[in-house]
Amino acid sequence: MKHLPTMKDAFLLIEKNRIADFGNMVDCPQRADLIIDASDKFVLPAWCDSHSHLVFAGTREQEFVDRINGLSYQEIAKKGGGILNSARKLQGIDFEELLEMAYQRLEEVQNFGTGAIEIKSGYGLTLESEIKILKVIQRLKEISPLQIKSTFLGAHALPLEYKNDRQGYIKLIIDQMLPEIAAGGLADYIDVFCEKVAFSIKETEQIIDAGLKYGLKPKIHTNQFNSMGGIELSVEKKAISVDHLEVMTDEEIFCLKGSDTIATLLPTAPFFLNDPYPNARKMLEEDLVVALATDYNPGSTPSGKMPFVLSLACIKMKMTPNEAINAATLNGAFAMEVQQKVGSIEKDKIANLIITKKIPSIEYIPYAFGSDFVYKVILDGKVVFTA
Ligand code: NIG
Ligand code: FE
Repeated sequence: MKHLPTMKDAFLLIEKNRIADFGNMVDCPQRADLIIDASDKFVLPAWCDSHSHLVFAGTREQEFVDRINGLSYQEIAKKGGGILNSARKLQGIDFEELLEMAYQRLEEVQNFGTGAIEIKSGYGLTLESEIKILKVIQRLKEISPLQIKSTFLGAHALPLEYKNDRQGYIKLIIDQMLPEIAAGGLADYIDVFCEKVAFSIKETEQIIDAGLKYGLKPKIHTNQFNSMGGIELSVEKKAISVDHLEVMTDEEIFCLKGSDTIATLLPTAPFFLNDPYPNARKMLEEDLVVALATDYNPGSTPSGKMPFVLSLACIKMKMTPNEAINAATLNGAFAMEVQQKVGSIEKDKIANLIITKKIPSIEYIPYAFGSDFVYKVILDGKVVFTA
């Protein structure tokens, strides 16, 4: 991950929506319908954000203020705020409204240079509303130039009405939600929030096993606040990724070593919640495959800005700029199984590219945090944003 291959004084040729060729400028084909001069600029693969919850109905500034005044994220969740607050808002709005909000957020992240994204359900928490979210994601797949993967996260929080009947809600997920989602081809993955404020390790296993029966591979939220066996379980179930990892024992890091499960770090979440950051250095020293993603959601990360994720990865987690860029592109692509199509500049891959403004170096991107360095974004072979 330390190595980021680069070429100076190069051309890149796009035909239809693919990278048809690239190489030294002296070998540049003489004719093209559209020529973009990238002198003194950088061309890099568009970001692959492998963890987001961008289909939500409303923002949660009041909880932001409550936390400033001393309440913790977990205390707010226990009082019926947090995810349940978002679920109440989402249950009250219709498909078209939800689609419009989600599409606007998708356009915003596209303009930051994101070209592939995973989007989770989990703010519905009823059969009808979980399906509504997944149908919004399905529609986004049809109308957006981004590569999109969808994940069913019915097990995001326990609805209040199931407070004394945890198995009742799990049964709803397994017996009603999953069959309908599978029949409609509405999800690529299954996720569970494995945490003390959400679902136990036993419940997580029960839900993952049910998803696997329908061919949904797991991507698991775990080790955000507590270490409770989520890593071991995810490795055993061959999860594509384990996400968050703010709290990790050495044993858990060793458990991931040599597995195919990607360690997905979401540094804007602990930034926003004032929590400790994941120990990325230790994970990289142990050769874990590390990806970086936003976690864009209304509760713990109201931002889908990948460049800020990279800055935090470098500033707070001591990842080098090269490591951070690899983690936010190709490794993110692996964490949503689109690595054959996007995530790097290779012949025949889909042309999902960022062209920067004139910047002094590639390191400038995480260094100049918050600055807008994007000149153009090309997705599916077409310019979709120009600064
Ligand atoms: O990944 N941790 C669980 N879910 C989200 C936050 C959900 C919320 O607060 O709305 C996350 O951080
Ligand atoms: Fe998340």
